[in-house]
Amino acid sequence: MNSKQIAGEKACEFIQDGMVVGLGTGSTAYYMIQKLGDRVADGLNVTGVVTSKATEELAKERNIPLMDLNEVGEIDLTIDGTDEVDGLFRGIKGGGGALLFEKLVAQASKRSIWVIGEDKVVETLGAFPLPVEVVPFGYKQVERQLEMNGYKPVLRHHEDGSVYLTDSENYILDLHMGAVTNPEELNTWLNNLPGVVENGLFLNYATSIVIGYSNGNVEVRDK
Ligand code: A5P
Repeated sequence: MNSKQIAGEKACEFIQDGMVVGLGTGSTAYYMIQKLGDRVADGLNVTGVVTSKATEELAKERNIPLMDLNEVGEIDLTIDGTDEVDGLFRGIKGGGGALLFEKLVAQASKRSIWVIGEDKVVETLGAFPLPVEVVPFGYKQVERQLEMNGYKPVLRHHEDGSVYLTDSENYILDLHMGAVTNPEELNTWLNNLPGVVENGLFLNYATSIVIGYSNGNVEVRDK
C-alpha cells in the first residue's frame, strides 16, 4: 500500500452512519472514496457532497448517494487531500484545480480532515506553486497586477498545450514563490484583486490531518 492509500483508507474510518460527507478531489481522496464505496455497499448510510466533476464521476461509479452543496445544510465531515500543510494546519490546495469547490465545501463543514503522504508536511508553505483561479475575461490584467507586485504568475496549461479550465471554466495562474511568508495577508490581498475568484491558501479549515508513511504507518494529528 502506498502512503496515499494508507491515509485515505484510515480517514474513511471517521465517517459514521447518517453523516453528510464532503468528498475531496485528487489521488489521495480517491482511496478514501473507494473505501467509502465499499462501506456503502456493505450498508453504510451516508450522503456525499462532491468537490469536483471528477469526484462526482468516481462517487457515482461507487454508488455513493450524493446531494448538491445547495441542498445540504452543514456538512458533518469533509475528507480531502492537500498539496502542502504546515504546523498550523494551513495549506496550499488546488494542484488538481478544484480549489474553488473545495473551499466552498470546506467552509460548509464542521470538520475537515486532510489526507496526505508524509512528503506533504512542510515547515513553510510555498514550495508548491500557489494556484489562483481567475475569470478568463481580462485575466492578463490580473497577471499584470501580480507581476507589478513581484509575483511570477504562470497560466496553467494541459500537457497538450491547451489552457487549463477549472470546473467553473476559469483559468488558473500558478504563483511560483518558494516561500509564503505571510499567508493570511496574501490570502486577503489576492482575493481582493478584481478577477480573482479564489486562491489555494486554505488557512483555517483543516481540523485534523491523517499522514500515511511509506513504511506502512499512519498518524492522525488533531489541531
Ligand atoms: C485538488 O485541486 C487539490 O486541492 C487536491 O486536493 C490536492 O492537489 C491533493 O491532491 P493529491 O492527493 O492528488 O496529491
